[in-house]
Amino acid sequence: MKKKTVLITAGPTREYIDPVRYISNGSSGKMGYTLAEEADRMGMDVILVSGPTNLVPSRDIKFIRVSSAKEMLTAAKKYFPKCDIFISCAAVSDYRPAKYSLEKIKKNGSPLNLKLLPNPDILLSLVKSFKQFRSRPKFIVGFALETENLIANALAKMKNKRMDMIVANNPDSIGSVRTSCALITKEKIMRFQNIPKIRLAKIILSETIISL
Ligand code: CTP
Repeated sequence: MKKKTVLITAGPTREYIDPVRYISNGSSGKMGYTLAEEADRMGMDVILVSGPTNLVPSRDIKFIRVSSAKEMLTAAKKYFPKCDIFISCAAVSDYRPAKYSLEKIKKNGSPLNLKLLPNPDILLSLVKSFKQFRSRPKFIVGFALETENLIANALAKMKNKRMDMIVANNPDSIGSVRTSCALITKEKIMRFQNIPKIRLAKIILSETIISL
């Protein structure tokens, strides 16, 4: 089989308010990095675009470190047309502060109102603009983090963002080496309870490979 290239986004993004404070979330990056390591072990060319995490990828993996959602979009856009598979695993901050303060914001005892602007949706921007590119990945995997209506919300995201597969989970999996989730393709729904992320990564990648 011809060597496949997989682009993976992973980890959280950070949206800085001033030089020391930022808006982010608790994503550890474990799922995305585990997918990257497994894909590398399966012999694929792996490009990992990651927000700030404590993890270090293997040397074989092409690694691009970013901070904000805008930086992640720029990096992902560069590699999107060249890959066979895109796995959008990043927990992107949906909002960023409207204003960045060059100096540390001092407290003055009054409430502080922060105006937030919506960030670009990386996966949606990439699939919407794919006509600009000569080609697009043959298979797109997304994730859905939900606290309610897991399957219905995940199916809506899958359709809206033109995914071929979506992994739907709840916040309990954040930072853990295990997860409970539903893996949804156009043909089936597979449910997993407390499955190690490394095992889930192998299943996601083998389901992807057989669909190419
Ligand atoms: N995603 C993205 N860019 C964003 C937000 C999400 O690329 N700004 C991707 C994620 O990597 C994931 C999918 O879209 O693959 C769904 O992300 P999720 O956070 O579950 O949902 P949202 O689309 O942000 O919707 P909501 O927060 O309203 O549930």
